[in-house]
Amino acid sequence: MENIEWESLRGAARSVMQQAYVPYSNYPVGAAALTDDGRIVTGCNVENASYGVGLCAECGLVSELARGGGGRLVAFTCCDGLGEILMPCGRCRQLLNEFKTEDMLVDTPKGILPFDAILPQSFGPAHLGR
Ligand code: THU
Repeated sequence: MENIEWESLRGAARSVMQQAYVPYSNYPVGAAALTDDGRIVTGCNVENASYGVGLCAECGLVSELARGGGGRLVAFTCCDGLGEILMPCGRCRQLLNEFKTEDMLVDTPKGILPFDAILPQSFGPAHLGR
């Protein structure tokens, strides 16, 4: 997909970042992605008194993707509490990998990159023979 409105996607990430529940880390994160049918899905991190149970912003995003009827992601951005572009953590790269389009793009501090540049030679559904 050509005309991705990155500024609008970043705005959605900054907006949802303000809904983060982060009493333990005090590190809010917002994530937003464009789907292959033109929807924007978002998520924020939601922490827990049992620290390891906390959910990254990307967890909420993929949950919203499924709840909204599924589909695939064509563009992704993520921001920290200052609204600056943030790289998804390793676990979340794997989460996103499951729902990427072949040419999904990711917003990074080094520019807009193909998803495969941030998770090369990924493990995915094809390895399970689906
Ligand atoms: N976090 C995310 O939500 N996504 C990431 O990709 C990086 C980390 C959250 C988890 C935790 O709530 C906080 O940032 C600090 O690690």
